[in-house]
Amino acid sequence: MSTTTQPTEDAALLDASLEIAAARGGDIVPAVYARFFVLRPDAAELFTVPDPTQPPLGCGQMMFEIINLLMDSAAGKPYVASYMRKIAIDHKDCRVADPVLYTQFMAAFRDVVADLLGADWNETYAAAWERQCAALLRHVQEIAAPGAACLR
Ligand code: HEM
Repeated sequence: MSTTTQPTEDAALLDASLEIAAARGGDIVPAVYARFFVLRPDAAELFTVPDPTQPPLGCGQMMFEIINLLMDSAAGKPYVASYMRKIAIDHKDCRVADPVLYTQFMAAFRDVVADLLGADWNETYAAAWERQCAALLRHVQEIAAPGAACLR
């Protein structure tokens, strides 16, 4: 797996895929959390879920931050490394310490986008997502246990 960043191209590819996904799927937040909880049912208890038919509290804010960080990381913005490390440190207070959780969350996010793109999803999108998720999650690995930066 390559973690080499290709800022301009990857940012444009992520943006284009997210635009298409939003146009087709509307609010993708519930689908991302549902997919993540299929991968990691044990993670559901970490969140505050007042209504099981709805995504957890704060999840929209979390997705908003993830999308911003992913895009800003791809664009090479320098604040990303320290902010991502802070997120990972703060999340330990929510019992989120396993770096694999981050990998699986981003895989769920990528898979929801890929499904919404359907036949429009291709190797170019897949490679951009792989590179940029790995680049973002590298900062989590720095403060947590090593390993599992690959989405597969
Ligand atoms: C790039 C990755 C992530 C970012 C940027 C991020 C960001 C955030 C933010 C900003 C909040 C606060 C939401 C609010 O103000 O209400 C939050 C809450 C939370 N996040 Fe994340 N998050 C990430 C990954 C994860 C992962 C992988 C998990 C795994 C389970 C997780 C679990 C939680 C939990 C349990 C809360 C508290 C929700 C609650 O109060 O019920 N986060 N996250």
